[in-house]
Amino acid sequence: MTMKAMSQDRYGSPDLLRLVETPRPLAGEDDVLVRVDGAAVHVGDCFGVRGTPWMMRMATGLFKPTCGIPGYDFAGRIAAVGENVTQFDVGDEVFGAGQGTCAQYVTVPQSTVAPRPTNLSLAEAAAVPTSGLAALHALRDVANVQPGQRVLINGASGGIGTFAIQIAKSFGAEVTGVCSTRNVDLVRSLGADHVVDYTRDDFTAAAAQYDLIFDNVENRSLADCRRALKPTGMLILNSGTGARGIAMLVRLIKPLVMSPFVRHDLRRYLSVPNQDDLLVLKQLIESGAVRPIIDRKYELTQTPDAIRYLESGHARGKVVISVANADATPECGSTAVVA
Ligand SMILES: NC(=O)c1ccc[n+]([C@@H]2O[C@H](COP(=O)([O-])OP(=O)(O)OC[C@H]3O[C@@H](n4cnc5c(N)ncnc54)[C@H](OP(=O)(O)O)[C@@H]3O)[C@@H](O)[C@H]2O)c1
Repeated sequence: MTMKAMSQDRYGSPDLLRLVETPRPLAGEDDVLVRVDGAAVHVGDCFGVRGTPWMMRMATGLFKPTCGIPGYDFAGRIAAVGENVTQFDVGDEVFGAGQGTCAQYVTVPQSTVAPRPTNLSLAEAAAVPTSGLAALHALRDVANVQPGQRVLINGASGGIGTFAIQIAKSFGAEVTGVCSTRNVDLVRSLGADHVVDYTRDDFTAAAAQYDLIFDNVENRSLADCRRALKPTGMLILNSGTGARGIAMLVRLIKPLVMSPFVRHDLRRYLSVPNQDDLLVLKQLIESGAVRPIIDRKYELTQTPDAIRYLESGHARGKVVISVANADATPECGSTAVVA
């Protein structure tokens, strides 16, 4: 049996992605096969399509993409289950993280899948997994944010930032979001106590100091950011964009090498999706504490446009790919945004 998917056979421009008919994956014994309704793309997909930064190829294939289908987020219905799967049945509506979700079907281990939040549509649920988990892991597991702590989120209007503001608020923190003028109202509406418009003000030059700076942009020097930290504050660095080659390597390693020699705690982290934390996000969403912000929704064949839009660095929340209509979308490379 086959399925439609957006796929590339070599690294390069998003225009290399083509709508292809490809064999439908089979669920291994611990896997579920999901009929994808919605997928989402994020910055990691831009790296995966272009094959840069080069170190990303350790995960995506050294000389050519091993999977070739972008997308790490999905929401959809279970179409088949492996023989060891006990938690899910065919027809269950789920969301989760896996590789190659810009396709009609994806197989994923049951450990990275959870029932979708009941108050979200499948398309909305697809916007949650990787960015929601990245925000949760930074704030809860790396920083252990406590009530009353002062938390600054740089890149507050992006895919991770929009979740981070809401999750930090749910932990009782006093939250400051940094974004541009057009996103000030959005960031405030997500619960930020203070908003810094970076086109007018510089958070590193102000008097305010923070227990935690969660930096999703990394457009400022370590010295600048540390000036805005309390004496024992933590800086979580979380951007893969804006540097290449050796400069990227230095940027990745420098804070980790420096950290033992300075009072501030300088961190990087890797968010690894898991079912327990998808259930935490589901609960936060169903309680009303968190909602996904969806900037644009593209049809499956418009995935190249979605990737290019993300590369602009100014997405406002999440970029979602609608897969449900894939059978009815014959054309590849159309540029119209559907919502
Ligand atoms: N650690 C992990 O495991 C992990 C997992 C996933 C992703 N990541 C990394 O997380 C980073 C952030 O991901 P994301 O999905 O949030 O990115 P994103 O959605 O592309 O972020 C876009 C946002 O960045 C804001 N921005 C751009 N320039 C800014 C500036 N100078 N100051 C403040 N905000 C600025 C934009 O706001 P304006 O339009 O208002 O400028 C926009 O809303 C990525 O680099 C990715 O590599 C890490």
